Amino acid sequence: MNSEKSVFEQFGDRYKEAASIPEMNGRYEIQADAEKRMAPIVAGQLGLTPQDSLLEIGFGAGMLLVPLSFYCARTVGIDHPQAVARLQSSHPGCGFELLSGEFPKTSPQEKFDAILVYSVLHALTSESEIINFVNAAAALLKPGGRLLLGDLPNTDKKDRFLSSSQGKSFSKEWEKRMTAARQEQGQGTHTPPVGGYFMNDSVILRILAALRDQKLNSYIYPQSPDLPFGHTREDILAIKPL
Ligand SMILES: C[S@@+](CC[C@H](N)C(=O)[O-])C[C@H]1O[C@@H](n2cnc3c(N)ncnc32)[C@H](O)[C@@H]1O
Repeated sequence: MNSEKSVFEQFGDRYKEAASIPEMNGRYEIQADAEKRMAPIVAGQLGLTPQDSLLEIGFGAGMLLVPLSFYCARTVGIDHPQAVARLQSSHPGCGFELLSGEFPKTSPQEKFDAILVYSVLHALTSESEIINFVNAAAALLKPGGRLLLGDLPNTDKKDRFLSSSQGKSFSKEWEKRMTAARQEQGQGTHTPPVGGYFMNDSVILRILAALRDQKLNSYIYPQSPDLPFGHTREDILAIKPL
């Protein structure tokens, strides 16, 4: 993996090369079951209805975009050209529209009832890039629209978890499962794309403040521990008043 490439470009390479869906999405094979629990939880968080239009920015292998498209009237996704090519060939004629490019340079011309940005913001390189991205996403919401910034890694939350007794037992169990996976099938040997920006409590609170500055009601939620990185990540939901 070439760490001189941007995280976005490293993801692009994965859609050509990766052997598994978790690897394409920057997760580990031992998280494959937990990854399958994401879509219904996210649909509930976004309050999706059959009348809604949905935009997913950074849809990756489509673990969320594909199932969520069945909950909505219209679905649009934006990601790397290789992610678009892969999903178009695995789901021809599926009815969702895919845009190739890097948001917000690439952006749709319409507004949405629901916008999903899941496990994406830490691929950016600085806090100002994150705030710029979040403001641009918020600007695409219709009145009453919901924006979910999901799966935000928080190094402070991770430190709190790993120093707890639950976190210490979790770490031991994780190491055992990773070792077994590596021995069994060479699984779990890939590393997630290198680079990106590490968020902590302060950055996450400043993202929340930026959304409130945009006049959105905004809240931080804990993730379910059943999700892939549920102990160490959290979600922000922002709602544009009617
Ligand atoms: C960790 S994957 C998450 C994929 C999917 N949302 C999921 O949770 O399964 C992050 C994805 O975000 C995409 N991405 C990163 N920065 C982006 C940007 N500025 N615009 C569009 N996509 C971006 C990457 O190409 C990658 O496909």
